[in-house]
Amino acid sequence: MKVTTVLLAAGQGTRMKSEVPKVLHPLCGKPMLWHVLEALKSAATEKPVVVVGHGADAVQKYLADSADCVLQEPQLGTGHAAIQAEPLLKGKTDYVIVTYADMPLLRGETFKRLVETQRINTGPLSLLTVIADDPRGFGRIVRKPDGTVEAIVEEYVATPEQQQIKELNVGAYCFKADWLWDALHRIEKNPKKGEYYLTDIVEIAVRDHLPVQAVVHDDFMETIGINTRIHLSEAEAAMRMRINREHMLNGVSMMNPEVTYIEAGVKIGRDTVIMPNTYLHGKTEIGEGNVIGPNTIIRDSKIGNRCKILSSDMEGAILEDDVDIGPFARLRKGAHLKSHVHMGNFGEVKDSTLAEGVKMGHFSYIGNATIGTNTNIGAGTITANYDGEKKNPTLIGEDVFIGSDTMLVAPVKLGDGARTGAGAVVTKDVPEDTLVVGMPARAIRKVERKTRKSSH
Ligand code: UD1
Ligand code: CA
Repeated sequence: MKVTTVLLAAGQGTRMKSEVPKVLHPLCGKPMLWHVLEALKSAATEKPVVVVGHGADAVQKYLADSADCVLQEPQLGTGHAAIQAEPLLKGKTDYVIVTYADMPLLRGETFKRLVETQRINTGPLSLLTVIADDPRGFGRIVRKPDGTVEAIVEEYVATPEQQQIKELNVGAYCFKADWLWDALHRIEKNPKKGEYYLTDIVEIAVRDHLPVQAVVHDDFMETIGINTRIHLSEAEAAMRMRINREHMLNGVSMMNPEVTYIEAGVKIGRDTVIMPNTYLHGKTEIGEGNVIGPNTIIRDSKIGNRCKILSSDMEGAILEDDVDIGPFARLRKGAHLKSHVHMGNFGEVKDSTLAEGVKMGHFSYIGNATIGTNTNIGAGTITANYDGEKKNPTLIGEDVFIGSDTMLVAPVKLGDGARTGAGAVVTKDVPEDTLVVGMPARAIRKVERKTRKSSH
């Protein structure tokens, strides 16, 4: 049994007041469109078809080959949009789910229920409805005295009595494919707006005495559509809580989930504690028993077990087990801290590997370097890795002791067990077990003394 999605995403989204197409606005780090397509994966069996129009290039570029795109030009309403998929799908699928790309909170299991309902429906379509006090401009579901669905009436044409109806059209439908295409062509242009409304398809089925089924959903929050940036922030908060709850149910602690920002797709192991004001982005994977935050931003990084990360920022970094960093550590792309590394305040590491047990307590910059096990990096150590043209490597062996404020002018190599004195400027390789010092300060001329005026 083939089930294919037709996702409508051609509308302008005027009320967003944006250069960015509405469906590309992000929610917990991923475009609205991503969330809808992700949910639909659990209900559809075939590659989705996305109807694009406004901002088609950007939307198509984002989708790449995850969906087949069809262009709706001009945009003459949701019924007209659905027809655009006919040349691609006619005769190729058993069921078609049609839904709107501006409803990112709908869950996979909800779409699944809709498809299951349609599979046992002798009629041609099933639709999703919700009972709510706040209609939010949704179409109203009109039922006959016997309780069966008769029509969907859009808010602006609804009579005052119809406006009181609490059952609303969510905007997700499952059709028998061989009925859908002809029925779409029978939709008439709405005389007031000059558009073809997909919602009129219900009356077409009813006129033909075919049963229409409704799945009445009980979670209104899941069905909210996004028309303005206020709706977007409401959806963001709902999605954030959904993601956080799932992590908590899987064994992650959060002191305050309302101020804990975790993107869809981030993985976190058991007994890890996420402290407030922490942001976990992108392809981040975190192991077990860590304490992360407060005030920490992590993007596209991998973290082992039992690490402590306090008030720090990292991107494209790897931490192995029992690593302890911060406050105010900055790890950039290619930073790899092996087990038991300690990195204290105001350090920066980029494109470098720090082997097991390296200590780097205070105010250092380590770039394009490899540092051996148990080496100690003194306060204020800098790898001068850039000569104005290219990046040069620094290689530091095991059990090395770098004195405070050492400049390591790359390319340079320090053998195992080497030591540098405070303030050393190292321009040549240092052999194993050797101490280097200097350059010492020397007098070059007399200077005039300036007496500071005291202010009291
Ligand atoms: C629609 C429904 C309404 C339902 C509500 C739920 C219709 C006529 N009305 O209203 O019953 O309660 O959604 O959210 O369907 N689109 C196109 N091409 C077009 C027009 C729209 O692709 O020519 C797309 C839009 O990009 C959007 C979706 O269809 O993703 C819905 O369009 P929108 O204008 O937001 O419809 P609503 O007024 O919200
Ligand atoms: Ca809408």
